[in-house]
Amino acid sequence: MNRNAAAILRRAAFRMDPERAHEAALRALKAGGPMLAAGAGWMTRRDATVGQRLMGLEFPSPVGLAAGYDKYGRAVRAWGRLGFGFAEIGTVTARPQPGNPKPRLFRLPDDEAIVNRMGFNNDGAAVTARRIADARHGAGAGIPIAVNIGKSKVTPLERAADDHLASFRLLRGVADMVVVNVSSPNTPGLRELQDRDHLTAILGALRDEDASMRRYDDRVPMPFLVKLAPDLPDAQIEDAVDLAGELGLAGVVLTNTTISREGLRNPDAPGASEQGGLSGPPVRQRAAAAVRVAARRAAGQLVIVGVGGIMDADDAWDRMAGGASLVEVWTGLVYRGPSIARDITVGLMQRMQDEGVSHISELIGSALEA
Ligand SMILES: Cc1cc2nc3c(=O)[nH]c(=O)nc-3n(C[C@H](O)[C@H](O)[C@H](O)COP(=O)(O)O)c2cc1C
Repeated sequence: MNRNAAAILRRAAFRMDPERAHEAALRALKAGGPMLAAGAGWMTRRDATVGQRLMGLEFPSPVGLAAGYDKYGRAVRAWGRLGFGFAEIGTVTARPQPGNPKPRLFRLPDDEAIVNRMGFNNDGAAVTARRIADARHGAGAGIPIAVNIGKSKVTPLERAADDHLASFRLLRGVADMVVVNVSSPNTPGLRELQDRDHLTAILGALRDEDASMRRYDDRVPMPFLVKLAPDLPDAQIEDAVDLAGELGLAGVVLTNTTISREGLRNPDAPGASEQGGLSGPPVRQRAAAAVRVAARRAAGQLVIVGVGGIMDADDAWDRMAGGASLVEVWTGLVYRGPSIARDITVGLMQRMQDEGVSHISELIGSALEA
């Protein structure tokens, strides 16, 4: 698809209800799989200078798809073909659930932002696992696939570990890595799971389950990551990073959407006052700061995944210089279109050349040393 066609489609999509536009985009991506495969040479700008081996996995680009775009695992094969270096499917809960009543997704075009209160609408772990397994069969996804899991709404907080375990048992066989989402603002009480005791119970249980299942198969240890909210104070981010180290996790994902409405250019826009999490450029500064806090604390011992307001290569560059080994986009895909992963990857390569950086790994954390 050339840029003009993409721009025309985007304008049409912006006249549609946001959630219907999203569904249509996913359907098109799924149906357009073979076409995307043919065009993959253009979309996927593979280059050794931006490839990394992390957590035992090969990432052809540091630019990934953030959780919540492909909640149902409907377009697993499309993401690599669109130039993403990895994709997070989910959030998936142990049981299927419908999410919150519609409308629950709002565009704030003056800010290139989104407010959402989807509430983990998904098909549940069993169905999603089957769908991902089908997609990975044969040619597969071609990129690492992370599965993001979260607590079912009906499960009380004190049973959260069991709920995550149930999802993990079903999804372990189809995931290259698992992200535990304790930071969505749209499931009541969920973010309380970011405290030390709850995190220890959930992640300790998952890690032990993985170890016990590995006695019966040949799999390598599952890389576990935890996804945090931008609204946490720095001290709590540091505490979560310490805990991630103690529990032997692979990394942290920072950040989810924010409940704050600070930094909006147009705070009076319809949608701005809706309940839910805000994403896009207004969360950029806080998400970037959270990455720097986490990276300093982790001192190279954890993989930091940076997400929140990354719209172009300069945003990705800054986030990586601040300590993120990988970055993800969600809102950027809506406002900048389906070539965003390719555009960011190529932009990173160009800037590396301009600044004499021979491999992307040299960039990571470079702004922290100063
Ligand atoms: C409509 C919508 C749904 C989302 N659903 C999820 C989700 O299910 N799980 C999750 O961990 N994050 C979810 N997110 C958060 C994104 O993964 C990301 O952390 C956040 O939007 C910040 O990145 P961005 O500014 O690039 O959008 C969702 C975001 C949006 C906009």
